[in-house]
Amino acid sequence: MTAVTPLVHSPSHIGDFTIRDVIEGQTAGQLIAAADDWGWWVTLLGGDTTAPTTGIQHTVAEGLVRGWEPTFRQLSDSPHLEFIPAATEPGEVARGCTDIARRRPEIFEAIGHAIAAGTPGTTIDLGCADAGRVLALAGIAASERFLGVDIEDGVIEAARTEVAERGLADRITLLAGSVQPESDPPAWLAAVDRQRVTTAMSFFLLHQLASDGDGIAAVLRGWMTWFPNLTRLVIGDGYLLEAPYWTQQPWFSPTYEIYHAVTGVRLWTRQEYERAFAELGWTVRRRLEDHTMLVTTILERG
Ligand SMILES: C[S@@+](CC[C@H](N)C(=O)[O-])C[C@H]1O[C@@H](n2cnc3c(N)ncnc32)[C@H](O)[C@@H]1O
Repeated sequence: MTAVTPLVHSPSHIGDFTIRDVIEGQTAGQLIAAADDWGWWVTLLGGDTTAPTTGIQHTVAEGLVRGWEPTFRQLSDSPHLEFIPAATEPGEVARGCTDIARRRPEIFEAIGHAIAAGTPGTTIDLGCADAGRVLALAGIAASERFLGVDIEDGVIEAARTEVAERGLADRITLLAGSVQPESDPPAWLAAVDRQRVTTAMSFFLLHQLASDGDGIAAVLRGWMTWFPNLTRLVIGDGYLLEAPYWTQQPWFSPTYEIYHAVTGVRLWTRQEYERAFAELGWTVRRRLEDHTMLVTTILERG
């Protein structure tokens, strides 16, 4: 690869930017150059996967693959557009999210115990990905039935196989389809006993549905119409933290910032979530924070 002229030379301050604002970009540049020198881009852009063997190769692979690559791949052809569609690698995102969840087992336990303490019913996970959370909760709330819905058929298919292998197919049902409330109900809803659903959960998805639709309250209102007997909501999402520069946010990552800026998918503040919860009659019972990357709120009503 030919040398790239650095955009930022010696001064440590340019306007309001400090060198810290661009350091991750520089580091990412080195990873990209190394991958190119190793021939990885020819493989990856040809649609194949690489097989890292050494520790160094694994580190570079992790730095490059975050599941958002299909979004960033559209950038070169889209300089004239305001936004490009959010596109993710479904299996990679599912695994990444489940890993984030596994880091904090006590959050699962709090949700599982809240579910187990009430009358047994059905808990739905809206945007369940590989059903990692459903499987973990099924082990804690042993009398509850679970339903998981995700738009990615392939991810649901693989998760269904796992549920069957674990002998949980009688308590866990997984369906493929969209959970975005639209004027017509989605087809998968016809296969569900809607009256039995008393807990609705959704993790890392509400911000996107609210961006594509009419905001947080509109999405929640749609779910409340689908499931009239809901008494508990469990919402996990990344909150927009207000700071003058993204480097001042605790989860500072230019990739995260740029992904949202180019797709138009927005993050929402805690106040925006709480205003929507209150507007719809929900009371916050517990808030559990995973170093502010994922804020999980358990809400109840009635
Ligand atoms: C960031 S992942 C979160 C996965 C999972 N909830 C978790 O936290 O482990 C978002 C998930 O929502 C799914 N998804 C995106 N749009 C959807 C839609 N309209 N309806 C249902 N699922 C959707 C994606 O396929 C993906 O699995």
